[in-house]
Amino acid sequence: MTNPAASLFQPFESANLQLKNRILMAPMTRNFCPGGVPGPASVEYYRKRAAGGVGLLITEGTIINHPAASGYPDVPWFYGPDALQGWRAVVDAVHQAGSKIFPQLWHVGSVREPGLEPNPEVKGYGPSAVLHPVKKEGTVPHAMSQADIDAVVAAYAQAAKDAMQLGFDGIEIHGAHGYLIDQFFWEASNQRTDNYGGSLANRVRFAQEIIQAVRAATGPDFPIMLRFSQWKMGAYTAKLVNSPTELEAFLQPLTEAGVDLFHCSTRRFYQSEFEGSDLNLAGWTRKISGKPCVTVGSVGLKGEFLRAFMGKSAPAESLDELLRRLDANEFDLVAVGRALISDPDWAHKVEQDRFADIKGFDSEDLKTLQ
Ligand SMILES: Cc1cc2nc3c(=O)[nH]c(=O)nc-3n(C[C@H](O)[C@H](O)[C@H](O)COP(=O)(O)O)c2cc1C
Repeated sequence: MTNPAASLFQPFESANLQLKNRILMAPMTRNFCPGGVPGPASVEYYRKRAAGGVGLLITEGTIINHPAASGYPDVPWFYGPDALQGWRAVVDAVHQAGSKIFPQLWHVGSVREPGLEPNPEVKGYGPSAVLHPVKKEGTVPHAMSQADIDAVVAAYAQAAKDAMQLGFDGIEIHGAHGYLIDQFFWEASNQRTDNYGGSLANRVRFAQEIIQAVRAATGPDFPIMLRFSQWKMGAYTAKLVNSPTELEAFLQPLTEAGVDLFHCSTRRFYQSEFEGSDLNLAGWTRKISGKPCVTVGSVGLKGEFLRAFMGKSAPAESLDELLRRLDANEFDLVAVGRALISDPDWAHKVEQDRFADIKGFDSEDLKTLQ
């Protein structure tokens, strides 16, 4: 009998990216990199997921070289000789285990509060000098000047160039969840009156410049994936766009700037995005942009991911609805988050039709890097 999940194991091929299957590891911050350096435990963590059959790993968010980029302790950096050496070891281990890997390049923007290493005196930077909309209190961020914007664009380009030199197979730009790039996208956090604020076309410009700079720094063939979301951490009903027409206006400049793949972050892949169709965000993005798209959110699990931060586990769930959508070509690739924290062999178990061996997500597993 053929495996019902066989379509997850079809190779993926686009102009500049070939993957052995359709399964991605979603980017997940784990806070196990003191001093910003991915050490042997991180190497082993990623190696195991690669050996477990994942086609493409997206690393945890990793901080670009800008004084205000970091927002959380023990998150890995993507600059400096020690951190880059650490990443090189991760890349080599993942390649040896037969998988591919992109770093997720991150600047947290106005989520940052002063006090964090390595620049404790630096406050958050954002599009405007307003508290991040989900914060009730905190330090008002520094409104980014043109020089600040140019510096962050250059830091993204440098990080992408370094990723290419380290042997990464592409990059993911973190444009989701209410962090810096998304703060420019989102009206609630972007109150600028210059070319970077106001209309959607203006709010997309910062991302557009980052993508163009990354493309220029890496050449025509290096895969660039952009992760974006409607929802924000702490604002789960927020919307960047309310219709397919608005989504098109959002996607077109990004596609023209050089995005190769879109990673459409939702918490529940099975929810439709706009009325009148059951396509999810990835489905609409693929249809409108013509680019390969990644879906994500509660794949193989009952219960969405925020529950993980409240100490809640999630039992395994059937893949039937996911496979129905994948078989209908709604999206090309599927990112798996928590299920891979608890079970590095998740992909192999699905491939071998061993669903009974998949235990789901145990929130205790967040406490260690295993
Ligand atoms: C512990 C944890 C850390 C996460 N860190 C990040 C991150 O660094 N960058 C990001 O874009 N998403 C992050 N996410 C969101 C995941 O990439 C993913 O979208 C989410 O967990 C939904 O997938 P799941 O339901 O399969 O877990 C994180 C999720 C978890 C559970």
